[in-house]
Amino acid sequence: MKIARFETEHFFARYEFNTPYQLCNSDCETMSIETLLELANVSITDFTQQTLGYTESQGSPELRQNIANTYQSCSPKNVLVLATPVEGIYLTARALLNPVDEVIVLSPAYDALINMFEHVVGIENVKKWNFHSSDDGWELRIEELTQLLSAKTKMIVVNFPHNPTGYVPSPQMQQKIIAIAEQNNVWLFSDEMYFGLTHEGTHKIPSMADLSPKAIVLSGLSKTYGLPGLRTGWLVVPNEQLMEEYINWKFYTSICSPGPSEFLATAALKVWDKLRQRSLTQINSNLQIADQFFHRWPDHFTWRRPLAGSTALVQFHVNSVNQITERLATEAGVLIQSAVTLGSDDQHMRIGFGRATFATSLGKFDSWLTDNPMIIDKKD
Ligand SMILES: Cc1ncc(COP(=O)(O)O)c(C=O)c1O
Repeated sequence: MKIARFETEHFFARYEFNTPYQLCNSDCETMSIETLLELANVSITDFTQQTLGYTESQGSPELRQNIANTYQSCSPKNVLVLATPVEGIYLTARALLNPVDEVIVLSPAYDALINMFEHVVGIENVKKWNFHSSDDGWELRIEELTQLLSAKTKMIVVNFPHNPTGYVPSPQMQQKIIAIAEQNNVWLFSDEMYFGLTHEGTHKIPSMADLSPKAIVLSGLSKTYGLPGLRTGWLVVPNEQLMEEYINWKFYTSICSPGPSEFLATAALKVWDKLRQRSLTQINSNLQIADQFFHRWPDHFTWRRPLAGSTALVQFHVNSVNQITERLATEAGVLIQSAVTLGSDDQHMRIGFGRATFATSLGKFDSWLTDNPMIIDKKD
């Protein structure tokens, strides 16, 4: 059975490895295996002496314990290690949903957080809880979530910090979402891939896993911890019966995680907070550079500063960001991404500011705009 095109991943497949100045990646700056092992105080010989057999399907006890340590009240028995973070979205759609169910999703969103659910329950049964722009940034309205609920709603899907807007709810708003899920006996699937990337001046919120037995949390090492090449993700699953269901589905997808990744992920999670701080330092510095850039180009862009995460959704006052993307990549080697791929419109672009090369790439974009100042078509 066919599934919708995964636009974001097709976009990166086309441009990521041939465009030198990237401005739209959602991951944070990565590191070598050597640097990771040094940071975690693990010997390289221990790594190379690992054998390459199958691993435990739920994940090794040590890795699950290290993951559980990143939460306030999570037991290793509630952790399911994934072979890739995105696998967690597939498993959730399969383990929890039937074709008659309704699902509420955020929009815009990372494609899989909409498309996978549409695939399983049907497009007409996926209801969109839309972000609204304001002068201050982006917002969600709780009354709109309530309006989307029906007796058929089986799951609410959220993603905070949000890709692409960088929105994070206030603690009060987070509690209201949880209350709605619990009162209506609805699962709350919480994608927390950007967990802990809270910008200076923004309130911190706990993981949904620490707050509600209706929450199923997805997280992983790709974004906050800068290790996307390990492909390590995990789910925090609130009860045993559901865990059984998930593991059964995992037998059909990956069976177990790759051993070398498990070893390195176990090392990384020993120093998870150090890795998170490293990413935050990079983000905070890049955000200041972004502030200056958007201040210089007020007629070209509307800059809604993100509250958290490593991405932002920026209004670009052109007719088509997609058309500019093609020109910019060819003429200057700079990569921007139309937010159309994320279910927004072609007058918005996603930028990512987790990478060390951000300042250089933005400088190239700035020079290209200086040479082509008349590209803007409209301003509202
Ligand atoms: C919100 C969100 N969830 C899940 C994923 C999947 O992560 P990975 O690519 O590491 O599998 C991404 C990747 O961009 C994401 O942005």
